[in-house]
Amino acid sequence: MGDHSATADVRGTQALAIVLAAGKGTRMKSAVPKVLHEVAGRPLIGHVLETLAASGRARPCVVVAPDAQGARVADVARHLAPGAAIAVQQTQNGTADAVLAAREQIAAHNGPVVVLFADTPLVRPATLDALSQSLSDGADVAVLGFEPADPTGYGRILTDAGGSVTAIREHKDATEAERSVRLCNSGVMAFAVSDLLGLLDAIGNDNAKGEFYLTDAVELARARGLKVAATLAPAEDVLGVNSRVQLAEAEAVFQARARHAAMDAGVTMIAPDTVYFSADTVLGRDIILEPNVFFGPGVTLADGVTIRANSHLEGARVGEGAVIGPFARLRPGANLGAKVRIGNFVEVKNVDMGDGAKANHLAYLGDGTVGTAANIGAGTIFCNYDGFRKHRTEIGDEAFVGSNSALVAPVKVGAGAYVGSGSVITKNVPDGALAVARSSQEVRENWAQRFRARMSAKKAGGKD
Ligand code: UD1
Ligand code: CA
Repeated sequence: MGDHSATADVRGTQALAIVLAAGKGTRMKSAVPKVLHEVAGRPLIGHVLETLAASGRARPCVVVAPDAQGARVADVARHLAPGAAIAVQQTQNGTADAVLAAREQIAAHNGPVVVLFADTPLVRPATLDALSQSLSDGADVAVLGFEPADPTGYGRILTDAGGSVTAIREHKDATEAERSVRLCNSGVMAFAVSDLLGLLDAIGNDNAKGEFYLTDAVELARARGLKVAATLAPAEDVLGVNSRVQLAEAEAVFQARARHAAMDAGVTMIAPDTVYFSADTVLGRDIILEPNVFFGPGVTLADGVTIRANSHLEGARVGEGAVIGPFARLRPGANLGAKVRIGNFVEVKNVDMGDGAKANHLAYLGDGTVGTAANIGAGTIFCNYDGFRKHRTEIGDEAFVGSNSALVAPVKVGAGAYVGSGSVITKNVPDGALAVARSSQEVRENWAQRFRARMSAKKAGGKD
């Protein structure tokens, strides 16, 4: 029996979580590293780091490639998990070689080691609990298995007559009989082995890909008299992303979970399958989401908000009881107070709107402030850009901007002021004033009657 420590808990302070992110990911056909492709607006590797953070105190060490792509992955990992260590795998020689890139961290570590793949984003904290339990129950090596509908491509977990795990065979190296095994390797593994480096160093590369497979650790552990146990996870939790098709599958699973969680938390959705969340969407209670609503990253909705059909939101905060849409677009920095109304074909970017302010139809509000209970008429444009720089438009409390006005920033409209419809406002409007900036109307009495008479006469005379 192996010498797993008494605190064999992958969630404990002692756990070292090695996150493999150095693979080439060639099937993605992309200039972007595979693990930086996104599910619900968050990079694949971000999901794994988030799960580790949520599950407790496992210390992540991310293994990256030595090239520019690896540097990008390391930057993202450091940003999302500031405490993460980074290890560099010099050449992409397989998953065991990748774990050994963290040789220093493993040597310095005293306690269990868990290995996760950065391309497997849907693993949940409960899954890590199950592995932890497996180690606590006496396993030296715990592998996480699953039974996918189609096992093609996955490593198969082989067991003996007694049901003990004997080996994991990669698809390419498996015999026909082995390929008929449905139990597959998810890639998540936990070790409570004192000489883990010795075990990993013993792995060879005599296989179809000529790579050092982490999965071979199972057979070698058995040969050393160590106990290997398999734990079963739901297939959707351990979906590995090697292609864009699998990326879309992972997205679908994530969205289904997010919709379910939102409804459980007090959100009404008329057509849940048409609403798309980001991994970081924050929702209050008694929210109503009409069909076809898309949440990009960074959106927070307070209680009682209604988002009407066909709206797109990102980087926006929406206050209590506000009604947005239909067909609204909230862009980063849209910060809306309570009971704000944003109607159809209105775009808001980097604008603070006070409580009860309204922009109900066809407007662009970019870079500025709109005071409490101010009314922005249909067709209003904040002309924020002069081709070089952005400027601010400030609308005071209870101001009224008439329809089809262009506010040429930088410009201020004072509290309670009126802007006449169709104005092009280039100068500040004082509090309580009326500003009209359009050519004044000329009226010619009975002109139309005279015009028609003249034209009819010309036509009758045969002239054109
Ligand atoms: C791997 C498993 C397979 C399992 C499947 C589950 C091995 C040998 N195979 O296969 O048993 O069924 O995952 O999805 O472990 N990586 C590196 N450096 C490398 C190679 C890979 O960091 O040299 C990283 C990749 O970025 C990826 C992970 O390790 O995050 C898995 O590698 P990948 O090539 O995707 O393995 P699979 O063929 O999917
Ligand atoms: Ca994979």
